[in-house]
Amino acid sequence: MQPDIQALEAEIKEFEISSPEDLEAFRLKYLSRKGVIPELLGSIGQAPKEKRAELGQQLNALKKLAQSRFDEKKQEFESGSARYAAATDDITLPPAPAPVGSLHPLTQAMSEIKTIFMRMGFTIADGPELEDDFHNFTALNFPPEHPARDMQDTFFVRKNEEDPSEDQVLRTHTSPVQIRLMKEHPPPLRAIMPGRVYRNESITAKSYCLFHQVEGLAVDTDISFAELKETLILFTREMFGSDTAYRIRPSYFPFTEPSLEMDIWWGSKKGGQWLEVLGAGMVHPNVLKSVDLDPQEFTGFAFGMGVERLTMLWYGIDDIRLFYDNDVRFLEQFH
Ligand code: PHE
Repeated sequence: MQPDIQALEAEIKEFEISSPEDLEAFRLKYLSRKGVIPELLGSIGQAPKEKRAELGQQLNALKKLAQSRFDEKKQEFESGSARYAAATDDITLPPAPAPVGSLHPLTQAMSEIKTIFMRMGFTIADGPELEDDFHNFTALNFPPEHPARDMQDTFFVRKNEEDPSEDQVLRTHTSPVQIRLMKEHPPPLRAIMPGRVYRNESITAKSYCLFHQVEGLAVDTDISFAELKETLILFTREMFGSDTAYRIRPSYFPFTEPSLEMDIWWGSKKGGQWLEVLGAGMVHPNVLKSVDLDPQEFTGFAFGMGVERLTMLWYGIDDIRLFYDNDVRFLEQFH
């Protein structure tokens, strides 16, 4: 009797193999010593002589087909069971929680500061960290060769080895953004300008070579010193609560006149101290002139606050260096 090769081929292709048990049944049926294919191969001798060669070829092709289906499924089941074996003993246990990060405390404080000022009607602007002498000093009424330029320990950046007059600076404060803003937008202006600043200071618990400021600027035809004070006091109450102790002292900056500084009381178990958090004042007439605004027509106030100082007060952190160590044990506390 001639085996129906085509029917067998279809059978092998369609044999349902969805478990290791099915696979074993498949092997027994077609490939094992007593299986269909080896049996047929063994009986070639009984076929008519002229058909033997062709039959042999067909049966070998079938055997190959069955073997490759077998190998393929076997591999599939084995990799599946390898995964199964590698799982922990109780696969019904919920997975270990993935650690979730959190915003850096400075980022959190910064966004609180922005929110408060936005509620007061301030917009947000920014400017470059690599500044030129004009924006960082000259336009802000620092006279050439004036010691005030050294007051802020500046990092200079040499652009052209041959020409030191092209030197740039890492901005020592965010005040240069005032200049850029006034040049871009005619008053009325009311904006804050958050950003990084750099100073070549020795690193201590209270100072670092880089830190953040939020600059503020309001320019219009009738901006008063009273409005400046009111803005700063309202900010302090919003950020730290209405019973926070603060004080305002006269101070000096080349770009404001009159100028002030504000301190907030930092209470601790050992006692307490005043912590300086910002400088401010009425925009100096020379600054208005440097951006072609008429000081007879316009007045303005400006302030610059230290974000690290505010964050230290906000969270009770006593060492500024912690912000830059990126020790996860520290950062984890600010979820
Ligand atoms: N730029 C000053 C500083 O960095 C702060 C300041 C800003 C003072 C605006 C007055 C007005 O110390």
